[in-house]
Amino acid sequence: MTSTITSTQSSTKEPRIIIALDFKDEASTMLLVNQLEPTLCRLKVGKELFVRCGPSLVDKLINMGFDVFLDLKFHDIPNTVAAACHAAADMGVWMVNVHASGGRKMMQFAREAIEKSTHKPLLIGVTILTSLSRYDISEVGLDIEPAAQVLKLAKLAYDSGLDGVVCSPQEVSVLKQEIGPDFSLVTPGVRPAGTDIGDQQRVMTPSEALIAGSDYLVIGRPITANTSPIKALKDIIIECQNI
Ligand code: C5P
Repeated sequence: MTSTITSTQSSTKEPRIIIALDFKDEASTMLLVNQLEPTLCRLKVGKELFVRCGPSLVDKLINMGFDVFLDLKFHDIPNTVAAACHAAADMGVWMVNVHASGGRKMMQFAREAIEKSTHKPLLIGVTILTSLSRYDISEVGLDIEPAAQVLKLAKLAYDSGLDGVVCSPQEVSVLKQEIGPDFSLVTPGVRPAGTDIGDQQRVMTPSEALIAGSDYLVIGRPITANTSPIKALKDIIIECQNI
């Protein structure tokens, strides 16, 4: 690989890669994070790591200069979700998410709470989890194709003032077309060509996902489980710069 990574920090979307820190403890998390640079990636802290390590780890990552996506998928009564979003904003995270199925009022309360905060993270909705099939959602009373429900919830999230949604790369082009270019789409299910897809079902390569219209790519194991995470990250960045 002879290409070099050029700085694209002028765009507010850069860096577009969000590394999923699916680790069990701080030591293994820091082993990876110490090899990374905030100019090259953002970091996602999910439920397991947050429950084990708490706000102090998030604080540490932010103090190292990283933008942190706090992926706790809040879903509760409007008042409680608003308070949780306010707390996340106070922590200084870059992005926070809520379940769009919590409804318009819950999302509007979350938006208002963030607007009242000094630091304002991006507020992202979760539509239909990609782990749920047509049958699964019928069992919880939704007689609708998952893709149609994703679009419905994404439009509701947009109307409720959210900044974007998490979705599968397969849903990106329809959502961009239906909702517009300024609604941010955050996509997991990304696999560089030739890497193990693991438990992901319908994947796209990083460049395919960006071409389809993804704004941010959530990538875990292709980077975190690689023997050289920084090389894996840089290879993905180069692939993305060559589209
Ligand atoms: O290792 P991998 O690249 O599959 O990690 C993807 C990350 O995105 C994980 O943290 C996973 O929980 C998250 N995620 C996902 N699918 C969704 C929502 C979140 O894979 N629909």
